[in-house]
Amino acid sequence: MTYAAITGWGKCMPPAVLTNADLSTFLDTSDEWIVSRTGMKERRVSHVSATEMAVVAAKRALACAGLDAKELDLIVYGSCSNDEQVPNTASGVQSAIGATKAASMDLNTACTSFLYSLTAATAMIRTGVVRTALVIGVEIISPFMDWDNRNVAVLFGDGCAAVVVQATDKREGVIGEQLGCLADARRTLRVRGMGTLYTNRGVTSGDTEWDFDGQEIFKRAVQGMVQASQAVMKKCGVTPDDIDLVVPHQANLRIIDAVVSRSGVPMEKVMLTVERYGNMSAATVPVALAEALEEGRIKPGALVLLPAFGAGLTVCAHLVRWGDRVTPLGASDAALPPVKKTALEMVQDIRARKVKAHSHAGLHGPVFIEEM
Ligand SMILES: CC(C)(COP(=O)(O)OP(=O)(O)OC[C@H]1O[C@@H](n2cnc3c(N)ncnc32)[C@H](O)[C@@H]1OP(=O)(O)O)[C@@H](O)C(=O)NCCC(=O)NCCS
Repeated sequence: MTYAAITGWGKCMPPAVLTNADLSTFLDTSDEWIVSRTGMKERRVSHVSATEMAVVAAKRALACAGLDAKELDLIVYGSCSNDEQVPNTASGVQSAIGATKAASMDLNTACTSFLYSLTAATAMIRTGVVRTALVIGVEIISPFMDWDNRNVAVLFGDGCAAVVVQATDKREGVIGEQLGCLADARRTLRVRGMGTLYTNRGVTSGDTEWDFDGQEIFKRAVQGMVQASQAVMKKCGVTPDDIDLVVPHQANLRIIDAVVSRSGVPMEKVMLTVERYGNMSAATVPVALAEALEEGRIKPGALVLLPAFGAGLTVCAHLVRWGDRVTPLGASDAALPPVKKTALEMVQDIRARKVKAHSHAGLHGPVFIEEM
């Protein structure tokens, strides 16, 4: 039987930090509200494209696995904020790292994109289609954010991480997953202004307004992740006591708390990054996974539970059995170029561009999309 072990990991976090105090300079919000309702203190704003972050993370993950890019058969780029639609973004990463033999594809299930990408790569390895894959979770939300809407502007951040997945005959890597989509709740989170429905109606691409029903998402996300976690544990014949570490999607500390307590896992066994990075959508779980390894929180042979949710509402929970190696084989000197502006200055630039786009298009409020 062929399995798909995770043998390399690497993250790339943009350095510019946007604090709750920064957000309070242009939004009617406060550090006290954000920390008490979400657990977030700061998040990152990227000064480079998503592809540039992904290239650095990819090089670090490959060095960690001790592999040359030419040994890759597949790149899966999990994201909902692609730099371009055509050509696909995975091909940009492939070209930059020199993975000349790889097939490359983009996969979008919003915040669960990395985990669905991990499923796709694992399945292709287990069925013999490919043997070595790079799976990327990356998001650059800052250009798509409606920075004047306090309901959403405080919640998200940019970031990226990647893992290398390789064929093995040992029972390692993803040993089971439960995937699902609560499509009746798909209208609870919609970014209006990304996609042809909007550009066909005169909206400048990226000039967004967000539909967001936070309380409904909260409720459905908790239910969905608890059900998916219980289902995958049952499928694999394990109990909450067998779980060594939970690396959940980090959309809200209170959501994580509710999911793990209902799943029967104590908070000491949970990897948290939400305070420092906020919700980085597809990048959240792989960044937390990479940091858990850096901090020595994943031991050889550990059983790791990865529950997540995203717009759609897509839900999932993966069980990963770690291999013997929890330290990198090598390091890469790849790095982002230095940042010249503060995070707040970059956000103010984006806000200014959006005001301009609105006045050029002569828009009067959001474009209404029929029941979908
Ligand atoms: C968004 C979320 C943090 C809001 O927390 P909450 O406890 O449900 O808060 P509420 O929605 O009840 O809002 C309470 C009040 O705070 C206000 N508020 C909202 N955002 C605020 C902000 N940034 N600062 C200050 N006040 C804010 C609301 O307007 C509301 O005011 P009102 O009572 O006068 O109407 C929470 O619902 C959540 O995390 N939802 C899911 C997260 C998510 O979907 N992430 C993305 C998907 S991956």
